[in-house]
Amino acid sequence: MSLRNVIAIDGPAASGKSTIAQKVADRLGGIYISTGNMYRAITLFLMKNKLNLDSDIDPDQVNSILKKLSLSYTKDSNGKLNLMTNGKAVDSEIRSPDVARHVSKIAAMANVRAWLIEKQRELASLGLVVMEGRDIGTIIFPDAKYKFFLTASPEVRARRRLAQTGETIEGSTVASVAREIAARDEMDSKRKVAPLKKADDAIFIDSSEMTIDEVVNQIVSSIK
Ligand code: CDP
Repeated sequence: MSLRNVIAIDGPAASGKSTIAQKVADRLGGIYISTGNMYRAITLFLMKNKLNLDSDIDPDQVNSILKKLSLSYTKDSNGKLNLMTNGKAVDSEIRSPDVARHVSKIAAMANVRAWLIEKQRELASLGLVVMEGRDIGTIIFPDAKYKFFLTASPEVRARRRLAQTGETIEGSTVASVAREIAARDEMDSKRKVAPLKKADDAIFIDSSEMTIDEVVNQIVSSIK
């Protein structure tokens, strides 16, 4: 039976998923969930626990650090979900260039994904959920009735990322940001577990030449 309360939005880095997913959730009265932020919060927690992410990573060491982490969501007065690490709301640090540089390596680890999968699936019990990531339509909710794969040209994505304050290092250019996101996309698409991939039944949207509202309208009208 298909899951009618889940809207899955997947796609590569900086494709506009979070802006679009948030607006779709607002329009439909649903709850917006970024799974990328969960991988980012784990990456930051590992960094804070002095795991060296620039060398080979020992899954056992990651497991023992994850034992000290509780990742949860609490609803605020506006009905928005706030991601909490050990009871404290995450902040913009999870979107820092340093976290972005390491997150794909962590997200490629089977034990990390296994640690998150049930937590992500449980979120469907919250009601109408708009969840965005890389494997929502393929692995987390393969039975979701509504699936979208959102992308844009590398140059458009690099420009969008560059416009987001605090997400790129000083002196970044369109070309340098394009290289960084291409490297991340390659790791995300080529990994063995849950690679970035369009689900066969997902609607493909190239937003390179579209405004945010046009994309939101296309998604909302194909759901209604
Ligand atoms: O916002 P941006 O497009 O840069 O990325 P994100 O959605 O915050 O995701 C950050 C990273 O988390 C991705 O590059 C993936 O490595 C990982 N991720 C994943 O593996 N699976 C997901 N469902 C979501 C994110």
